[in-house]
Amino acid sequence: MFRTHTCGDLRIQDVNNKVTLSGWVQTIRKFGSITFVDLRDRYGITQLLFSESLNEKLEANPLGREFVLQVTGTVNERSNKNNNIPTGEIELLVNEFSILNKSMTPPFTIQDDTDGGDDLRMKYRFLDLRRNAVKKNLELRYAVGRSTRNYLHEQNFMDIETPFLIKSTPEGARDFVVPSRMNPGQFYALPQSPQTFKQLLMVSGYDRYYQIVKCFRDEDLRADRQPEFTQIDCEMAFVEQEDILNMFENLIKRIFKDVKNIDYSEAVNRMTWENAMWTYGNDKPDIRFDMKLCNLKFPSHTFPNQTDISSLINGVDFKVFDEAETVVAIAAPGCCEYTRKQTDELTEWVKRPQIGMKGMVFIKCNLDGTFKSSVDKFYSEEKLKAIAEATHAKAGDLVLILAGSEERTRKATSELRLYLGQQLGLRKADEFKLLWVLDFPLFEYAEEDNRWVARHHPFTSPKPSDIATMINNNPAIENAAEYLKHPYANIKANAYDMVLNGNEIGGGSIRIFQKELQQKMFAALGMDEHEQQHKFGFLLGAFEYGAPPHGGIAFGFDRLCSILGGSESIRDFIAFPKNNSGRDVMIDAPSSIDDKQFNELQIKLDLKA
Ligand code: AMO
Repeated sequence: MFRTHTCGDLRIQDVNNKVTLSGWVQTIRKFGSITFVDLRDRYGITQLLFSESLNEKLEANPLGREFVLQVTGTVNERSNKNNNIPTGEIELLVNEFSILNKSMTPPFTIQDDTDGGDDLRMKYRFLDLRRNAVKKNLELRYAVGRSTRNYLHEQNFMDIETPFLIKSTPEGARDFVVPSRMNPGQFYALPQSPQTFKQLLMVSGYDRYYQIVKCFRDEDLRADRQPEFTQIDCEMAFVEQEDILNMFENLIKRIFKDVKNIDYSEAVNRMTWENAMWTYGNDKPDIRFDMKLCNLKFPSHTFPNQTDISSLINGVDFKVFDEAETVVAIAAPGCCEYTRKQTDELTEWVKRPQIGMKGMVFIKCNLDGTFKSSVDKFYSEEKLKAIAEATHAKAGDLVLILAGSEERTRKATSELRLYLGQQLGLRKADEFKLLWVLDFPLFEYAEEDNRWVARHHPFTSPKPSDIATMINNNPAIENAAEYLKHPYANIKANAYDMVLNGNEIGGGSIRIFQKELQQKMFAALGMDEHEQQHKFGFLLGAFEYGAPPHGGIAFGFDRLCSILGGSESIRDFIAFPKNNSGRDVMIDAPSSIDDKQFNELQIKLDLKA
């Protein structure tokens, strides 16, 4: 028998018992004639004590870090207890040992604060996975998966697998494609999500479907994106938006409880997309803190229902504001005493190319009730006070104002808000705030092709009240500069995103289930009848055989895990992730294939320069 216990099992009650352990050598310490070894496995660490009597054997069989070792001995109470680990009250007095396998010296230390850089750890990911910090992340991932499956099973959802070799129909991202040997010159695509299959399952009558499933998207990578990632993919028939919101906020609450022991009893906040853009400049706002945007000036077509307060900044001949399309302010709490150096640093921060602003205006709301600003020569103290009040700044706050084009300025203010929130400790890793963002626009304008694209995907239904607008108007955009005036720009989708601490963790919609409306949608996206049949004939055909009303959602499983684990990077929660160039540096993929494979596929490689 290789072991009677794991390295995490033994306690004070086991003293005097004879046991056998197997594991990896974490550390070796010699004290005179005695040798201490920390033996590690998935479950913990146990201290081993090799007495003088084993020295001869140890000299003949020297141990090294990461050697695989089997030891038999007696459990002993430690004189020098370690309260930091569960086995810290005991040690194993070794009688016999055998080296099951040797190890080369690992290229980095297998410890929480390892000396290995990212690249090295990725190359030796199998060693990195031995580290406690990484193991904890995978354990959390497993717990999230288990909780999800339990909840969905209790709710009558059925886990059904869908194919990975499907048809290429790129919409949002690029497809990964796979050549078919049996059909030379033809290609499968790997699914960006099981979207159409889960809809077909609804037509087939499996009214509650789920799958924890791999999705593949060839897109530019970021900390929260991987080319292959995992979704908790769900679909339900005979539901309205409200049913989906209830079912899936309860899923997330259940995961909070099972995985983090958090009772999220409060109602999940809801916000329209328009309100999110207006108050946070962002469709996935972090609502753990306030610092809302104050829109001092904005193009009226973007927010037709909002009050114009530009009179607060107009009329003083301050060109930066006068010439800007948009002027937005936020109040940083308690920052009025920022030094010149600190405000300069903030200005430099917004001037970085990623943020792209030309400068920033400050108003200090002093504790004595006076106001000081970088634009004192244009604005009287009274005017500064009025602007500060509009931003809901309190005495002691610092108002920051950005001006420029609508999209860039709104985005920059949103980024600045998040940056300051982080700096000021307002984005606490152990606080979790959920939010539903609702009523997204159905269409987005694609400038390069002067046409509409689906903001979510082409299967998302318009709000019932907007169906007539969609059917009765021609989608063609006559005047590109005025696309926002086209009736399609105002059509709202039956779509929803779930946001956790400023991250989009899931998104879905109520689907179109009538053939005619689906055809209208495809046509609005610029697909003629031939293309519709070629790409989605199977779905249009299925809609002719009794498709029920249905809707669903998919959560980014890796993303959810990383947020619950308090990390920015989803890579830390994936056993074998890709790097930022989409490479697996451990197995060295992607790689070339040999001539025989090309011949079988009847493909000749002719790379364009
Ligand atoms: P969507 O494209 O919004 O919806 O994806 C759902 C969720 O998946 C996560 N996600 C990603 N995670 C890691 N790496 C990526 N490259 C990546 N891309 C997306 C996000 C996102 O919220 N079929 C629809 C869902 C539906 O309508 O039911 C879909 O895939 O957290």
